[in-house]
Amino acid sequence: MAKIPEHILNEIQDRCDIVEVISSYIPLNPAGRNFKALCPFHHEKTPSFIVSPDKQIYHCFGCNSGGNVFNFVKEHEKIDFIDAVKMLAEKTGVKLPEYRQEKSEDSSLVSTIYTINDIAAGFYGGLLAKSAASTDVRRYIEKRGIEDAVLEKFRIGYADSSWRSLADYLTQRGVKREMTLKAGLVLKGKDNSVYDLLRGRLVFPIFDARGRVLGFGARVLDDSLPKYINSPETIVYKKARHLYGLNFAKQHIREKGFAIISEGYLDVIMSHQYGIINTISSLGTALTVEQIRLLRRYTHNVVMVYDADQAGEMAALRGLDLFLEEGMNVKIACLEKGHDPDSFIRKFGPRGFDVIIKKAKNLFEYKLGVLKEKFNTDEPEAKAEIVKEMLGTINRVRNAVIKAEFIKNLSAALSIKEEAVWEELKKLGNNKSFRRGGQAGLQEVKRTVSISPAEKILVKLMLEDASVVNTVRESLKPFDFKNPDIRHLIEALFSFDTKGTIIDARRLINYLEDKVSPHVISFIVNDEVMIRDKEKNIRDCINVIKKENKDRQLRDIQSRLSLAQKNGYKDEAKSLLGEFNRLIKTGS
Ligand code: GTP
Ligand code: MN
Repeated sequence: MAKIPEHILNEIQDRCDIVEVISSYIPLNPAGRNFKALCPFHHEKTPSFIVSPDKQIYHCFGCNSGGNVFNFVKEHEKIDFIDAVKMLAEKTGVKLPEYRQEKSEDSSLVSTIYTINDIAAGFYGGLLAKSAASTDVRRYIEKRGIEDAVLEKFRIGYADSSWRSLADYLTQRGVKREMTLKAGLVLKGKDNSVYDLLRGRLVFPIFDARGRVLGFGARVLDDSLPKYINSPETIVYKKARHLYGLNFAKQHIREKGFAIISEGYLDVIMSHQYGIINTISSLGTALTVEQIRLLRRYTHNVVMVYDADQAGEMAALRGLDLFLEEGMNVKIACLEKGHDPDSFIRKFGPRGFDVIIKKAKNLFEYKLGVLKEKFNTDEPEAKAEIVKEMLGTINRVRNAVIKAEFIKNLSAALSIKEEAVWEELKKLGNNKSFRRGGQAGLQEVKRTVSISPAEKILVKLMLEDASVVNTVRESLKPFDFKNPDIRHLIEALFSFDTKGTIIDARRLINYLEDKVSPHVISFIVNDEVMIRDKEKNIRDCINVIKKENKDRQLRDIQSRLSLAQKNGYKDEAKSLLGEFNRLIKTGS
């Protein structure tokens, strides 16, 4: 696609709020007129990431990343600028010009599959609603204690045992067979016939974070196998990318400051029924990096809930190391043997469950406890084994302070010297996990912004009040500014017809595209500068810049002069000397 016209970028920006967009990725906390957060682009303990709702600009004073809403989405999603624009265009309903043909075919297929899924969810829901009181499915629902309101909320449905109910229904609704097959809910049989994938099962639509139906899981009503089947991956449903229940839980996860991760559909559904609404599920598998990153948009804290049997499993515990790699805090809550959240909550109520959640131990404590029970800790070999296993986890902790603390605790717990543990850690090498198979972790983007205070203040004032541009234009030329980014910026500002207009920083970023990095503008805009007397400040800054500029010129003349003298170019030396004296006297 060609370059996106500026007015379209502006229109998209007008229709979305940067605070809303960024807070769909990371938790934001109000701080005065602005919002603050831990920067998602580098690792930090205290927030230096600021979002300004007034200016619609973000900036991190730790790593100097910054810009407007497009820059954020681009950096966070690690996608091209164009794709970031497309994402936000879709969100805001702004039409982009000249889509490439294949792209538009793709996107129409995507929306067709969403539609089919939605129709299917409605169909299965309808079958359940219509089912008579004493049928198998009704009895099963009763047995599991699922209330009507929750059935509706989760759009739970029923696929009857006939082989073609959905297939026929979709045909009746005018869905093309080719599309029906692509949605994965209907399969091809012999001699060109088709049949339904889900039969005689309770059906759980699987939603994305926005609540669109991606696919389905379905459970038998008895003990037969397989217990669950899932609809296949399609162009819209990629299992590794979604978390069941997130659409319902995301708001509460943010409010409560943590997410509870369970394993099954019913665990989520029952939690929600009993008012524990920050619960989601991985649907029986270990969490993927994509799922963790998805969750990280809402919180950095998770509690994993396990059955007593699974909880001590080394494989499961190792899987949790991934959370640490992704900068998340993970705790483990352990239910008594044979229970999952669904059965536990039904037996002990939400209060009982809450107690378990509050008792959750952090991964370090938990894993150490498991290991100490497993090995006889008095034997040196056993200690070595425990250290090795624990270091696998500790090595993934990004924060050096936390890491040191863990090592201290580990050595104390095993009565060994701290240095010995450090030595073993060194042997493991420097966190190779961060550069695992092409999946770039959060890279630390350290950029520098070096601008003289006078230039910075002046540009800031110009951006806040267009009339300042006129004042500055009367006294300074773009090339009077030392910093090349600032020079480009000034050129742009001077070229605007600034009569009475406010300069909109988020638009300026689009306008200046390749010429000035967005983080320079976001830095200037968000940097707090105390200004008491604005007029005086402007004059002072102009004078300082003139003076700095003059000093620079003088130094330049001096060096040329000494070169000319050394080489015996008398005429040139004479004229340079004249220039030097003139400059000293006049100041221009
Ligand atoms: P209930 O028996 O209905 O309470 O289900 P559960 O969620 O407690 O079952 P379990 O703990 O055995 O499994 C946890 C999750 O793993 C389920 O919710 C499913 O998402 C998934 N799962 C379990 N069994 C199967 C299976 O046979 N096939 C598939 N595809 N997924 C399964
Ligand atoms: Mn269960």
